[in-house]
Amino acid sequence: MTNLTRRQILLGGGALAASGLIPAIPRTPLTPQMRLMSNALAADIPRPDYMIRLSSNENPYGPSRVALKAIHANLHLLNRYSRDVQPVVEVLADINGVSADNVVVGTGSSEILRVAGMIAASNNGSVVCADPTYQSLLDYAERHGAEIIRVPVNESLNSDLEAMRAAVRSDTDMIYLVNPNNPIPSVLNKDAMRNFVLEMSKEHLVFVDEAYHEFVDDPDYESMMGLVAAGHKNIIVARTASKIHGLAGMRIGFGFAHPELAEKMRDMKTGETHVLAVEAAHASYLDPEFPKFVIRKNKESLAIVENMCEELGLRYIKSNANFTFIQTGMENAKYQERMREYGILTGRDFPPYHSSWSRISMSKPEEMEYYVQIHKRLFG
Ligand SMILES: Cc1ncc(COP(=O)(O)O)c(C=O)c1O
Repeated sequence: MTNLTRRQILLGGGALAASGLIPAIPRTPLTPQMRLMSNALAADIPRPDYMIRLSSNENPYGPSRVALKAIHANLHLLNRYSRDVQPVVEVLADINGVSADNVVVGTGSSEILRVAGMIAASNNGSVVCADPTYQSLLDYAERHGAEIIRVPVNESLNSDLEAMRAAVRSDTDMIYLVNPNNPIPSVLNKDAMRNFVLEMSKEHLVFVDEAYHEFVDDPDYESMMGLVAAGHKNIIVARTASKIHGLAGMRIGFGFAHPELAEKMRDMKTGETHVLAVEAAHASYLDPEFPKFVIRKNKESLAIVENMCEELGLRYIKSNANFTFIQTGMENAKYQERMREYGILTGRDFPPYHSSWSRISMSKPEEMEYYVQIHKRLFG
């Protein structure tokens, strides 16, 4: 087996890839049929020779070099069952101004969502949420006996806090808010949000999913982490290393809650954090450079797509995340199918918006340029 040199370790991802220890970014190749099709229909448009993933809100740059180095340096730990999560807990607590006993480490934030879904379902009551929104917690709670009360977003396609307040019933155990929302990347006004969370959390559990927090630069937005730091009891905030840190495949995310609730959540977890996920996240959260780079590139990509929407007069939702939501005016299934013919994967159906809207995740600017050219060629 090839030995990993100190120089390779210090140089990080690039050198590791060159050494053959990490395969150089494996991508999904185009099928011969797709290649023929895109050559015939858009031979003049230079295109990458792989599937472009605008479908899953992933980070096209991650993991960072720093994270890759940490993964490599710790490969020898793979014979161990587990790794102490305390160092990463402390880093997360520090960054977010809470204490270590507020932090729960999950196998992705999905585990935090499912544990919360289980808590919400334990009385067979109800969960109030916006519609559309991210489904994981809701599906899990529903499978375990909760009724889901879906409150349609308002005319500007933002979560409707007034209508959600009115939808809360005496059997409501949880209110689930995603901010920025997904698939619609809008944010809630910070004062309205804080008042709503404070009021609701007097009698109900409030779960605030902030998976895209790091991408937001709207001054109208505020994280609800401060309420956890201030000691409020019925509030859970979730964050993830999957998005800005590009560690989706590592499955590591975080819940933040009052120490008593955090303890209860730890007790209910079934997953164990992978030893390399602990190391990768620890290194990545200590590095301020990679997130800055990703935010800058994400803005470039968003601008390319938003310019197209302006030019073609398409309605879109100003994004506070790494994806946007566009009114293409056609069935999403049809849009997906046409884009796929050109090697582009776009977002799945998000009922009831699937009849004319599509979610487009951001990839690298050059890939978004290609997407725009294809969209214009097909529908412009
Ligand atoms: C709003 C929201 N919450 C949670 C998740 C799950 O993230 P994780 O990879 O941490 O499980 C996603 C993933 O797309 C998401 O969009």
